[in-house]
Amino acid sequence: MDILFNNQIVSRDSVSIDIEDRGYQFGDGIYEVVSIYNGELFEWEAHLERFVRSAKEIALTLPEQFDLLKENIMRLIEDNHIEEGYAYFQLTRGTALRMHAFPEPQAEPVLTGMVKNATSPPITAVKAITTEDIRWLRVDIKSLNLLPNCMAKQKAVEAGAQEAIFIRDHYVTEASSSNVFGVKNGVLYTHPINNLILNGITRQVVLRLAGNLHYKVVEEAFTRDELMDMDEVFITNTGLNVCPVIEIDGMLIGEGVCGPITSSLMSAFGELIQ
Ligand code: PDD
Repeated sequence: MDILFNNQIVSRDSVSIDIEDRGYQFGDGIYEVVSIYNGELFEWEAHLERFVRSAKEIALTLPEQFDLLKENIMRLIEDNHIEEGYAYFQLTRGTALRMHAFPEPQAEPVLTGMVKNATSPPITAVKAITTEDIRWLRVDIKSLNLLPNCMAKQKAVEAGAQEAIFIRDHYVTEASSSNVFGVKNGVLYTHPINNLILNGITRQVVLRLAGNLHYKVVEEAFTRDELMDMDEVFITNTGLNVCPVIEIDGMLIGEGVCGPITSSLMSAFGELIQ
């Protein structure tokens, strides 16, 4: 399998990452996951913009020839004949003697990327648990520090669920790897964009689709109690797109099936990626 390593397409086996890479030791880096449909990168510009913003927020210098990124990922897609799947890429602050402060002079940032085929069968509905949001206060940055997310997802899996919905001070923020929407009396609710959630690209697409469908959307935080009382709940992310949540903490949401508004958004999304 060929992968991207600092602007070179090389075989995965030929790459080595130094044990003092700051991504490896401190989680000092950022990443993106982009869907591939019909061999094309879905919402590339939005993902790139978020990646550049994440880099800026942690004072991480983009590597030289960063503008070749899309071209290189497209080459991976073509070489690997990926029609449907995803691209993953990440950038770390590079290799330096292990000291917490950023290295001076700067180290060479390390850029890696790969593409994968979609896993099948696709997931059509999930059960979720709620769990305390123990993450840091800058989760708007798509950083490599995902340990609380991994722990929450693991807790969900151990409870026989597939996703963990984070609760901070009684309010729903987002989930371990997705954004959360609720529907009550025909109105969509989701957490506003701030430092407490990742501004999901799928979330942005869904907000556009909801507008096209003339749904009322309220970008305001809602509590766990309000979540449990929603008529419909769904999550959004790269890969799942729009996915109904039919049960939370063992309680059915609505009738425990995909609701009509979720279903219409799933269809609208499906048309986009045909
Ligand atoms: N995660 N919130 C969190 C915490 C996420 O990790 C993700 C995506 C999202 C949704 O963002 P987007 O719609 O841009 O994919 C929200 C990716 C898929 C991941 O880490 O694998």
